[in-house]
Amino acid sequence: MKITVVGAGAVGASCAEYIAIKDFASEVVLLDIKEGFAEGKAMDLMQTASLNGFDSKITGTTGDYSKTANSDIAVITSGIPRKPGMTREELIGINADIVKTVAESLLEHSPNVILIVVSNPMDTMTYLVHKVTNLPKSRIIGMGGALDSARFKYRLAEALEAPISDVDGMVVGAHSDTGMIPLAKHATRNSIKVSEFLSNDRLQQVVEDTKVGGATLTKLLGTSAWYAPGAAVSALVQAIACDLKKMFPCSVMLDGEYGLEDICLGVPVVLGKNGIEQIVNIELDESENAKMQESAAAVRNVNALLDS
Ligand code: LAC
Repeated sequence: MKITVVGAGAVGASCAEYIAIKDFASEVVLLDIKEGFAEGKAMDLMQTASLNGFDSKITGTTGDYSKTANSDIAVITSGIPRKPGMTREELIGINADIVKTVAESLLEHSPNVILIVVSNPMDTMTYLVHKVTNLPKSRIIGMGGALDSARFKYRLAEALEAPISDVDGMVVGAHSDTGMIPLAKHATRNSIKVSEFLSNDRLQQVVEDTKVGGATLTKLLGTSAWYAPGAAVSALVQAIACDLKKMFPCSVMLDGEYGLEDICLGVPVVLGKNGIEQIVNIELDESENAKMQESAAAVRNVNALLDS
């Protein structure tokens, strides 16, 4: 199993590290445009192999896509990250050109690759990759909901004063501060609805803290986060590489599901060796559905900027 990660910045390198530590890939290629950077990160990571006990081979390349040939899965993290006070949407101009070139270059050398898009604004970048490559929708996956759900579970565990392993919850909708929809009514602690333990106000606070999860970190760090994004991507990669049939919310091209079409938005999907193997249509209540439609409208507004 060969996996390419484009962009050896913090998110790309952390993703490569988690993939290596989980030791399910024979080869991980890191690619970056900055001279020597991916090679350096790859070498540094390889020098952790004897310490962390993995056999995956990690190599780096400065922009040579022939080194990525015949990748099974490729992760696109390229582009600029957001700075404090910026929304993900403000990155569109620069990142759209980068993501387009990266997707085309990857496909040239790996015609059967499954693409995972991480660059922001992620839902729009995933949509762009569809338009540019015309690949079947099962092979283009936007990573946002897996990360936002991890942040939701972190906030739920904090509010419940419970270990994370007791907690389950999911975030759907757009990967944006205003468009994400933590499904609070469905969240559970050991199969019991969290509303049994938390007041409405406390639960609402969890939802609000989850929605600004990325922005909170950007303010603290001065740039966007990397550990949880890297871990979330590695979980998706593992589900595909190991054919786990695991369910995650991911941004996918919708074709009537949730009453939406011609848009990429976060919904639960099953991931296996073919990429997206199923889009799971869960029943949303009236208010959740209204939020989903609002979230879609906001993403469409950003998508429209692709043509300008
Ligand atoms: C974040 C970036 C990866 O939410 O969008 O941290």
